[in-house]
Amino acid sequence: MQSYILYPLCFLAAFLLYNVATFITSELRHRKNARLNNCEKATPLKSNDPLGIRIIVDMLKADKERRLVMYFEDLMEAAAKREKFRHSTYESRLLNLSWKLTIEPENVKTVLATKFKDFVLGDLRRGNFSPLLGNGIFTNDDKQWEHSRALLRPQFVREQVSDLELEERHVQNLLRALPLNNDGWTNVTDLQKLFFRLTIDSASEFLFGKSIESQLVELPDYAPSGEEMKLSGQTFANSFDRAQRVIANSSTLGGLYWLGHTREFKKDCKVCHDFIDQYVHEALARPTTGKSEAEKQKYVFLEALLESTRDPIELRGELLNIMLAGRDTTASLLSFVFVYLEQHPKVFAKLRATIIEDFGTYSDPRNITFTSLKNCAYLQWCMNETLRLQPVVPIDARTAVRDTVIPTGGGPDGRSPIYIRAGEEVNWSVYVMHRRKDIWGPDADSFNPSRWNGRKVGWEYLPFNGGPRICIGQQFALTEAGYVIVRLLQRFEGLSGVGNTWEPVEKGGFGFVRQALSLTMAPADGVKVRLKEARE
Ligand code: HEM
Ligand SMILES: *[C@@H]1O[C@H](CO)[C@@H](O)[C@H](O)[C@H]1NC(C)=O
Ligand SMILES: *[C@@H]1O[C@H](CO)[C@@H](O)[C@H](O)[C@H]1NC(C)=O
Ligand SMILES: *[C@@H]1O[C@H](CO)[C@@H](O)[C@H](O)[C@H]1NC(C)=O
Ligand SMILES: *[C@@H]1O[C@H](CO)[C@@H](O)[C@H](O)[C@H]1NC(C)=O
Ligand SMILES: *[C@@H]1O[C@H](CO)[C@@H](O)[C@H](O)[C@H]1NC(C)=O
Ligand SMILES: *[C@@H]1O[C@H](CO)[C@@H](O)[C@H](O)[C@H]1NC(C)=O
Repeated sequence: MQSYILYPLCFLAAFLLYNVATFITSELRHRKNARLNNCEKATPLKSNDPLGIRIIVDMLKADKERRLVMYFEDLMEAAAKREKFRHSTYESRLLNLSWKLTIEPENVKTVLATKFKDFVLGDLRRGNFSPLLGNGIFTNDDKQWEHSRALLRPQFVREQVSDLELEERHVQNLLRALPLNNDGWTNVTDLQKLFFRLTIDSASEFLFGKSIESQLVELPDYAPSGEEMKLSGQTFANSFDRAQRVIANSSTLGGLYWLGHTREFKKDCKVCHDFIDQYVHEALARPTTGKSEAEKQKYVFLEALLESTRDPIELRGELLNIMLAGRDTTASLLSFVFVYLEQHPKVFAKLRATIIEDFGTYSDPRNITFTSLKNCAYLQWCMNETLRLQPVVPIDARTAVRDTVIPTGGGPDGRSPIYIRAGEEVNWSVYVMHRRKDIWGPDADSFNPSRWNGRKVGWEYLPFNGGPRICIGQQFALTEAGYVIVRLLQRFEGLSGVGNTWEPVEKGGFGFVRQALSLTMAPADGVKVRLKEARE
């Protein structure tokens, strides 16, 4: 009779004892390791917030106000005031998960390069992203990532990233959405919408060999020509946007991300998969021989991938991953460039003069190539300065796979190494790092392309990430964005914003650009402008 109670009790006690013992030994081991590496604690990001709940609540509020990215800057600012010391690295919790937030170039370099093998994207990110993206370069770690990277690498060699004839066709479609009135000005138009359509059109042509033509569909005089793929192109774009937004929302839930994966979300994922599968199946069904010379000449990403794999699921995954990587990013950069050009008429005038000098006029353009775009210094400075102030991926993270150390930021003087346990996350905010006054000077918050004159950058400037997982599409993006800017500034000599929230307070705005943060960041309220035709 007694043993009925005794055995389970003994068992329970043994179980508890075992857990306490393993907890204590692992705690002691961590402390010893930390001591051996001269590690000190990182300062808490917020005081009296042991579970990180207040940060989550504030994050949701800031997200509603479209200032989530700025919120992290405010948090670090507040912590600096509280501690009377400006630390570069803080620690906090997200429910049962400890995470660090850093804006220290040395720490970011350690995570992304020096100790690359100690950090992974992790199961949370993979679990959260893969219903939409499947297996691909954005969800994979280790061997699988190496496989994806090797598969994609050859597709981004220099000649292939500079198909400017393809780009010109899509720019022409964009200009059709900017008709002129008799006074030479366009009506008020949201450039951001046009840029998002432009980049999905050019990305789909580059990837599948056939554009979605979302720009044409939206023109007032568009008449459906019976090509049914166009319509589902729009449906795809909408589902793709919604699914991304859900993933971004869900990631704030940490290990409970799956709670955000609603039926609607799964439906959207299915729409995206079906859409991509059309192209994959079509490509797989084509005979491998007997292509005409003309067909061979045009570079198509999917065709090239077919030489490495014919697995339809793998092909779908990689295509969706590149679609995600390549579309919103470039459109967002272009949108922010025009926000800043509108706010800074002198920069607009100088950039325009430089473009006319290097590349001629709109109707008589010359020498616009991959190399000449790269050599146009002021154009590059304007793009670099935009990516400094509004990096498209403003906050990013990795999870430690083994106990490890980041080199600095700990202790009262902020100089000691910090111990990171396996399973912990290190987040870094490129956005806040790019605005550090001790690095960029007292005018760090101002848009000033000329600061790039003669400037050499290291890990303190990181819009495209660094190390082995550096953005594979950097040249593609800068060539595409540069080309679009050149053609638009050749075509238009005047730029005037109308009714934008980012205009100064006296003009009815907030005075800063509200940011929509999905997986990437873009202006939250569009870029509404009128443009004036150039008299040549
Ligand atoms: C202004 C435009 C762009 C910016 C600012 C940008 C930025 C980034 C950043 C920050 C990452 C790292 C993400 C992470 O670590 O979680 C990344 C990765 C990547 N980007 Fe870009 N990107 C841009 C355009 C593009 C384009 C146009 C493409 C392709 C057509 C592309 C393809 C990729 C790929 C495949 C990766 C994953 C690399 C890997 O994990 O090995 N990106 N990009
Ligand atoms: C501009 O808007 C007005 C009023 O809606 C319209 O009548 C006019 O045709 C538009 N101009 C152009 C060039 O589209
Ligand atoms: C994401 O969260 C915000 C606020 O927390 C909410 O307004 C929005 O509807 C959510 N979006 C999706 C797609 O779940
Ligand atoms: C840190 O990064 C992880 C993984 O990307 C993300 O889920 C989490 O929300 C980030 N934390 C903050 C406070 O942004
Ligand atoms: C936190 O909780 C989640 C599920 O609630 C679990 O999967 C995860 O392993 C936990 N993480 C840690 C570091 O304990
Ligand atoms: C074209 O641009 C390249 C690179 O900037 C330059 O070296 C070359 O002189 C230019 N050619 C002409 C004809 O302007
Ligand atoms: C612009 O930024 C890139 C890094 O994204 C850097 O390699 C390049 O040197 C910068 N360009 C100029 C003109 O400073």
